[in-house]
Order: sequence, then C-alpha cells, then structure tokens
Amino acid sequence: MWNEIGILFTVCFLVVPILCQSEIPGRYCYYLLGEVQARLCFDCPAGKLLYNGKCHACPVAPFCTSTSYKESSSSVTVLQSRFCDSFGQNCYNCMKGTYGVRCELSCDDRCDSNGCAYYSGNCFRCDDGYWGDTCSSACPVGCSGSRCDQVTGVCDVECPSKCDDQGCDKTSGNCVTCDTGWYGDTCNNPCFPNCDDQGCDRVTGDCVVCDTGWYGNTCNTQCPTTCDIQGCDRTSGVCVACDSGWYGDYCGSRCPSHCLTLDCDKFTGNCFSCQTGWTGPRCDTRLCTGHCLDDTCDDSGLCVSCSHGYRGQQCLEKCDTHCGDDGCDRETAVCTGCGTGRHGARCQNVCFQNCVGGCGQYDAICNDCNVGFYGDFCNLTCNVNCNSNLCSRNGACTDGCVDGWTEPICDRPCDVEYCSRCRESGETVVCVQCDSPYTGSDCSRRCPENCESLYEFS
Ligand SMILES: *[C@@H]1O[C@H](CO)[C@@H](O)[C@H](O)[C@H]1NC(C)=O
Repeated sequence: MWNEIGILFTVCFLVVPILCQSEIPGRYCYYLLGEVQARLCFDCPAGKLLYNGKCHACPVAPFCTSTSYKESSSSVTVLQSRFCDSFGQNCYNCMKGTYGVRCELSCDDRCDSNGCAYYSGNCFRCDDGYWGDTCSSACPVGCSGSRCDQVTGVCDVECPSKCDDQGCDKTSGNCVTCDTGWYGDTCNNPCFPNCDDQGCDRVTGDCVVCDTGWYGNTCNTQCPTTCDIQGCDRTSGVCVACDSGWYGDYCGSRCPSHCLTLDCDKFTGNCFSCQTGWTGPRCDTRLCTGHCLDDTCDDSGLCVSCSHGYRGQQCLEKCDTHCGDDGCDRETAVCTGCGTGRHGARCQNVCFQNCVGGCGQYDAICNDCNVGFYGDFCNLTCNVNCNSNLCSRNGACTDGCVDGWTEPICDRPCDVEYCSRCRESGETVVCVQCDSPYTGSDCSRRCPENCESLYEFS
C-alpha cells in the first residue's frame, strides 16, 4: 500500500501542490487530474509528515507550531494537532511574533505581544500608540495613553487640549506636561499675560521669564517707567539700566542739570563730564571765568567780585601795578588805595619826596614827613632855629628853639633880656623861663643870692 501511495504522492507533488494548501490542515488530498478524479488523502501523526510513503518529523523552521484539527474520519471526533504540511514545506501555524508559510518573517514591532496573523502578518492587536492592520499608523496626538481605535484611529479617550505630546494620565486625565503657555493639572489656565514665550511653571503658573518691562513671580508688576529698555530685575524690580536723565536703583532720581549729556552714573548720580563752566562730580559747582574773589561767581560764570588785583567784567585784566593790595574798581580801574609812595586815582604819581609812609591817594597829603620837613606835602623845611631840626606838621619846633628865638616857630628873636625861653602869645612875646638868677615875666627881677635854682621848684 505505501508503495502505491508513494507513486501517487510523487505525481501529486509535481502537479497539484497549490491545491493542497487550500485544504483542511493535516488532511492533504491529492487530486489526479485528467480522467481520474480520484481523491487521495494521507495522514501522519502530529509533527510528522508523509514522505516517500513514510511519516517523517517536520524539518521546517523552528518557529512552526502545532495547530489542532478535528479528526472525524470515523464516527468518533478526535482532536489532533499538526506542525507542518505533509511535504514538510509549510508550517501550519507560527510561534508568536513570526509569520509566513515557514514562519520566516517577524511580526511588525508595533504589533503587541500577541503577534500577528500566520499568513498575512496583520497584527492581532497594536501596541499603544498605533493603529491599522499592520499597526503602521500612529494614533493622533493627544489620545489618552496614546491609545486609539485599531480600525478607525480615533482616540479612545481625548486628553485635555493643552496637554503636550506626552499626553495625559489614563486615569486622572491630568496632563503629563502642558503646551507652552498653559498651566494647571489639565493645563487649562493660560500663563499670565506678561510671561515671555517660554511660558510658565506647570504647577504654580510662575513665569519662566518675564516680558521685558515686568517683574514678580507672575510678572504682573511693571518695572519703573524710567528703567531703560532692558527692564528690571525679575525679583526686586531694580532697573538694569536707566533711561537717559535718570539714576538710582529704581531710576527715580534725576541726573544733575549741568552734566554734559543727559546721562549720569546709575549708582552715584555723578556726571560723566560737565557742561562748560561747571565742575565737581555732579557738575554743580560753577567754574568761574576769571579771578573771582573767594571763587564765587554767578550762574553765568561771572565773578560776584574780582580777586584783588583783577578787574573787568570777567576779572581777567590786572589792576595797574601801583594799586595797593585791595586792587581796583572792576569797571573804572581806579585803585582801591595805592601802594606805598604813590597817589592818584590809578596811583600813577609818586608821593612828594619827603613823605614818609605814603600819601593820600587823592590829596597827596603825606602821612608823615622826614625829619626837618613839614607841611601837608612835606615840602617845607623846619625853621633853622628849631632844636635838632625837629618840627611838627604845622612847622612848630617840637624840641624847642635854639637860644634867642621864640617858640613855637622859632622865627622871631627873643628880645627879652635874661630870658632863656620865649613863647609867642598872640602878637606879643612872653618869656616862660628866665636866665638864672632873673625872674619875673620880663626877667627884670633878680632872685636873692643863694636861690640859684629856685625856679626849678616853682
Ligand atoms: C609845596 O607843594 C604844594 C603842592 O604842590 C605847592 O602848592 C607849594 O607851592 C609847595 N611849596 C613849596 C615851598 O615849594
């Protein structure tokens, strides 16, 4: 019998293998084409195949696995299993994860652990995140747990709209992370309006960075208006830099008015340089134009008074050289007093020759005279009869007259006999001291003997 079958098998193998594949697994039937419409069926036990009339172990790929079938050739139905076809060519079924007639192909990665269909390779089920027969399509962004319908691709559950690509918790529906610009468990709160485009903290809503010009956790406080375009410190509100013309942490103070430019040092308020005519760190000290008394000048730089020795509107011209220490009139150049020995409005004249200690600026009257001279100008000579050549400013001899002359001028002879000192008294001359031993107003009387020195005690 086996020989006969072997012959038939050979014929079948050459002619009708395709037909075999459509048959019930395990029960291969061979049709002889042509006039003989015989149907021959062969059987081997599970895991065996019929070859050359004998049943052999399946030689095919290790991924073949058994499949069950009902043996119902008798009145009793028996459940049998088989690994491969009778030719040993094709598996009946594949291990999970493989497919193809010899299970030589791997199921797509996106099939879940149940693998794929033996013949088509279609996944039984997709991994989360994929859909379609071969699970080659990605579920739409925002599906809860990334899961969507295997056939339609519609999300099983929709995450809140502002969840980002990471979707949301399958149970709570809370987003894993929010789209930039949103916060809260379900990301339904927009970040505060002055957060910059980096958005805000997912939980607190605090801005990552503020738009320029705002500060505070949620950037809802405006920087001082005099901060420059760089805005202010996120926490303190201290300006990075100030608008022109302002200084201070919060740029709340005006720069000094005489800085050369509008700007000044942000911290000190000092000018970088001063307008012409001003000096000092804050340019608030007038730089006077000329030689000002006490360095004091008005807002236009003109001296309130000139330093001694200078004159003119700007106190730049010098007073005449012979003016005294007090200088001169700013406008007229008239000296305010002269140097010793000079007189005249501008002290252009020399005092009289015998002046001592200078002379009056306008009247030229000498302050004092050299010995032997008198008069306002000391150009009169003391009388030759003055003792020691001394006389006062009016010509009176201050040390008396030489004998025989009348005080005070000593220009009239003393006519009184026996008089040692004569003095003018109106138009007359009186003796104020007689020669010894004479006495009396005209020295006509004679003292007694022995009172030689009487007058000395009178
Ligand atoms: C003394 O000087 C005054 C003023 O110059 C003058 O008027 C006067 O004549 C002078 N007297 C003599 C004695 O030179």
